[in-house]
Amino acid sequence: MDGQDGLHPDLAGLAFLLGVWTGAGRGCYPTIEPFEYLEEAVYTPGPGKPFIAYRQRTRRSGGGGEPLHAETGYIRPAGPAGAEAVIAQPTGIVEVHTGEVDSGRVCFRSAAVERSPTSVEVTRVVRRIQVEGGVMRYRLEMAAVGKPLQFHLEAELFRDPPPAEHPAARV
Ligand code: HEM
Repeated sequence: MDGQDGLHPDLAGLAFLLGVWTGAGRGCYPTIEPFEYLEEAVYTPGPGKPFIAYRQRTRRSGGGGEPLHAETGYIRPAGPAGAEAVIAQPTGIVEVHTGEVDSGRVCFRSAAVERSPTSVEVTRVVRRIQVEGGVMRYRLEMAAVGKPLQFHLEAELFRDPPPAEHPAARV
């Protein structure tokens, strides 16, 4: 790498996120049936620039296998122990986050959640991500449809190709 295309030095504290991650998760909310899903998430560094491009897609696990949620966005370093994120969803929701970074962990709390006119009401989102030895675990809480901030999702993802026999290999 010649410095123009390499990892921007400001990304050092967020480099634990980088890679292709696949695995499985579960979700619920008071207003919906509990569900389980497979996920692929990709975190790619901007070429020589201080941002990480992020996208994920999911499928229902078990029975149906139909596509569920997907989202895409960017994560930016903000000082030595901070980060910011913008995330857009096909459901018409956009999240703007500020985050705290601490050796392999980042906690994003929404500074703003904006919605297109016909989307479902979401007012707050908290995303906690932790990476330990090639395993990413995250937990997402939201305040939505008139309910206070509470659990919606948790998942465990593995970096780079999972073993062929792992269900996540079929995401
Ligand atoms: C891994 C990512 C996610 C998956 C697999 C997922 C899956 C689901 C599923 C299966 C439902 C049940 C209704 C339906 O089938 O549409 C649902 C509802 C919902 N999800 Fe998610 N979701 C994800 C991420 C998110 C995020 C990031 C948000 C908001 C920031 C969100 C907000 C909601 C809301 C508002 C509802 C509707 C609740 C209601 O209508 O009562 N979801 N989600």
